[in-house]
Amino acid sequence: MSSVPSQYQRVLSGMRPTGALHLGHYHGVLKNWLRLQHTYECFFFVADWHALTTNYDDPSNIAASAFDMVVDWLAVGINPGSARIFIQSQVPQHAELHLLLSMITPLSWLERVPSYKDQQEKLKEKDLATFGFLGYPLLQSADILIYKAGQVPVGEDQVAHVELTREIARRFNHLYGREAGFEEKAEAAIIKMGKKNAKLYKELRRKYREQGDQEALETARALLDNQQNITLGDRERLFGYLEGEGKIILPEPQALLTESPKMPGLDGQKMSKSYGNTISLRENPADVEQKLRTMPTDPARVRRTDPGDPNKCPVWEFHKIYSDEQTRNWVRQGCTTAGIGCIDCKQPIIDAVLKELAPIQERSAEYLEDPKIVQNLITEGVEAARDVADDTLEEVRAAMGLAYR
Ligand code: TRP
Ligand code: SF4
Repeated sequence: MSSVPSQYQRVLSGMRPTGALHLGHYHGVLKNWLRLQHTYECFFFVADWHALTTNYDDPSNIAASAFDMVVDWLAVGINPGSARIFIQSQVPQHAELHLLLSMITPLSWLERVPSYKDQQEKLKEKDLATFGFLGYPLLQSADILIYKAGQVPVGEDQVAHVELTREIARRFNHLYGREAGFEEKAEAAIIKMGKKNAKLYKELRRKYREQGDQEALETARALLDNQQNITLGDRERLFGYLEGEGKIILPEPQALLTESPKMPGLDGQKMSKSYGNTISLRENPADVEQKLRTMPTDPARVRRTDPGDPNKCPVWEFHKIYSDEQTRNWVRQGCTTAGIGCIDCKQPIIDAVLKELAPIQERSAEYLEDPKIVQNLITEGVEAARDVADDTLEEVRAAMGLAYR
């Protein structure tokens, strides 16, 4: 594990409730989550309020979609022992932070988020000139900041939202992290760490501030994270003192870009429900086989004797994900010489997908048979999430002059 302090180690990610998931979600997102859950403290949630930002006209599917999505998370192996699974609307703390952050968010920051105009263009049939839709990236910022998440696994299209979150955090810390006598208080806090640690902290701070030494910054953060005998307020001061002139109440998160291969749909476009080109994780094996058998191939291969070009064939994209080097060589060779037929070529894919789905389907069937287990896991996740969220909110309220209740 790196020497980044634990609050920077926390991972948070959310997904809109789209119902049962497909192979695109599995290869594009969930496999990444599975890796992360072993290394970091993870929070994964169903972004049901986010669904309302675009689908407010038809909320009838939200509950069932949320449930099905969580079942599939569990079925692929998201482990509630290491990752918290919860539902956004059951942690209303997100909404309070969203409101408080909205006070300091310039309208122009929201208007220039690329997805604002893009989505309005794309979803022309919907009226997205709503307050909720404009504010949705800020809601996402609240989702992230309320857990002080350091790492946010997202796809390319969401990077701008994490960037906005960083700007909001910076602005918040700038506005509310300042206090009278900050420097004196920070210096006093250094002394409280003890002689050895104080010396080390000063040395690392100097290295970072004078030479921009990033490693020194990280080591200093780790040092602070391990201090048992300083208060939370002092810790924030000392985090802030490393970098600037105020406390760091809301740390800036980092986008963690998923490096997974692109999962194509059956027609070669991105796999997506709206294109009708998916294989669902719950698809029954006969349908999986049927879909793969009938999926399009290089259009130039009309007859079995026509040679083809894998680069023009969606099946090849599947081989990139599922096949080893040897099988891929067999495909390249066989396709370009018409040595193999397309059905031959598809067989290893059919086998691989069925093999991949079998244990997932076995598990999802178990959860579907006993939905109470899923409900209980969500309840536990919600409670854990609320605990963390409450701590952050308390600090935020205090910083914003609202600690008098
Ligand atoms: N906006 C994301 C999407 O549409 C989902 C999301 C909501 C999210 N809040 C988040 C992702 C916080 C990461 C972190 O896919
Ligand atoms: Fe596609 Fe394979 Fe047929 Fe070639 S042999 S066109 S790669 S399915």
